[in-house]
Amino acid sequence: MSQKIPVILDIDTGSDDAVALITALKAPELEVKWIATTWGNVPLAEATENSLRVLDLARSAGLLAAEIELYAGAERPLARDLHEGRRRRDRYSGLIDGEEVYMHPPILPGRPYTQQAEAQFAPFKYIDYLSSATEPQTIIATGPLTNLAIALSLEPNIVSKIKELIVMGGGYQKANVTPYAEANFWNDPEAVACVLHSGLKPLLVPLDATHEAYLRESEYREIFANSGELGEFCCALLEQRQKLHDLNQPLAEPQAVTLHDVLAVCAAFAPQLLSDCLEVHCQICLSAQANGHLVIDRRENPAEANARFAYHADRAAFVATLTRLFQA
Ligand code: BDR
Ligand code: CA
Repeated sequence: MSQKIPVILDIDTGSDDAVALITALKAPELEVKWIATTWGNVPLAEATENSLRVLDLARSAGLLAAEIELYAGAERPLARDLHEGRRRRDRYSGLIDGEEVYMHPPILPGRPYTQQAEAQFAPFKYIDYLSSATEPQTIIATGPLTNLAIALSLEPNIVSKIKELIVMGGGYQKANVTPYAEANFWNDPEAVACVLHSGLKPLLVPLDATHEAYLRESEYREIFANSGELGEFCCALLEQRQKLHDLNQPLAEPQAVTLHDVLAVCAAFAPQLLSDCLEVHCQICLSAQANGHLVIDRRENPAEANARFAYHADRAAFVATLTRLFQA
């Protein structure tokens, strides 16, 4: 196999972030160098705890040769209050047959483990690590972009050390958290603005692509069938996601799930999973009802591109990729 792609993951774990982390550890094409956590789906402490639980599970499944350092980052958005609306869990949960079902359980299942988060604040780790990197690095961000925005604001020169930034976020024809906005971008729109203005030209993996790359229940059960405890863990999270999709957020077919963050991770080594991936000029709305809405310059002569946007994804190829990774 050709050389592994070293990646940094920035995650707000979260159900699909958990499966994305496991996928990154499972993919022979990737080497996870370290992990940053951020507030987002759950508060920072829970995102960190959940990520450590996933690492512990991966360790006992034999997926980790050595400990992967984890750095806790931002606890709140750059400029917005962490007001009640940004903390509300009822957006992500529902009562089904008398049982509370979560899109992102506040605390993922786990057991006692020994690894602790490193002492350094994740944005400072970005600055130190990237400043001394001899090769440009790949970052996959699947939560709010707060950590990166802080690092880029304090040390803009790190841009030259980032080879590729893959971001799960935004939507063109789709929204989820408000009528107009996707959750990661709505959570910290000022951070999105900072990244879009940085010159990094991120690859955006938006809801348009992730909603096309859904998995049927029969598919995810088959994908994870031979992965023991790890597979049971993933299936339990996906079962809850599936119930909430059927209840609140129907997909192209019932009994199916989105795996937003997993598609973003797979795009790092299988960019062909994304289709109609076009260079665009886009901006994030910062005010009133459109807060967090991504707008794309649709003129015939748009302003200079500042991102790449994946309008579609290849569902069959995504299923095949996950089958290869987990059935290997
Ligand atoms: C994104 O928001 C979170 O709910 C998911 O983890 C994903 O990163 C989808 O809008
Ligand atoms: Ca996420």
